[in-house]
Amino acid sequence: MLDNSTKNFIDLVRTRTSCRSYLEKDVPDEAIEQCVEAARLAPSACNKQPCRFIIVKDAELRKRICAEALLPGLPMPWLRQAPVIVALCAEKSVITHTIAPFISGIQYQLIDVGIAGEHFVLQAQELGLGTCWIGWFKAGKARKILTIPGSFQIISLMSLGYPAEEPHFSERLPLEKIMFRDNQMK
Ligand SMILES: Cc1cc2nc3c(=O)[nH]c(=O)nc-3n(C[C@H](O)[C@H](O)[C@H](O)COP(=O)(O)O)c2cc1C
Repeated sequence: MLDNSTKNFIDLVRTRTSCRSYLEKDVPDEAIEQCVEAARLAPSACNKQPCRFIIVKDAELRKRICAEALLPGLPMPWLRQAPVIVALCAEKSVITHTIAPFISGIQYQLIDVGIAGEHFVLQAQELGLGTCWIGWFKAGKARKILTIPGSFQIISLMSLGYPAEEPHFSERLPLEKIMFRDNQMK
């Protein structure tokens, strides 16, 4: 396992930003495996672990994703530079995840993939790698390009690589806007 941790957790979280410019530098498989290992340890509803990570390094497949699988209106030319695109999928056959939403109204696979995906992101950050979640994509096209079996739902894409830019920090709501006590929510 790689171990070059230099930051405590809150520093790691504070310094993470979405990376939209990448160096032309390969990401070692060992680093990617460590990111997936962090994701593997994430909690999931009923511990069903529906999350799967497709690591796309193949240049032709990445080119096709960029050319064919992004939705219009939000240009992402920078994605062509990213040496790795990750497709985050969820296994559909998990019974708790297909039936439970009818009762609770909550789609647990989205939560599961979100948590696991962010574990991946934070591990990448600790290793000096940049990431960006990509939700504005054509799931059907991405599924075809990557020949993802029908038993998996593709939930998000993510770029991964060594950053070629200084971080741009986006503003966040202040604590008092997002945290409420007891029945005081406004
Ligand atoms: C679920 C999700 C989907 C996103 N989709 C996109 C996307 O399609 N394209 C993009 O450039 N950024 C995308 N982002 C990145 C957000 O724009 C970014 O996280 C947000 O603006 C806050 O900036 P920061 O990540 O630098 O702190 C997405 C983020 C999330 C969590």
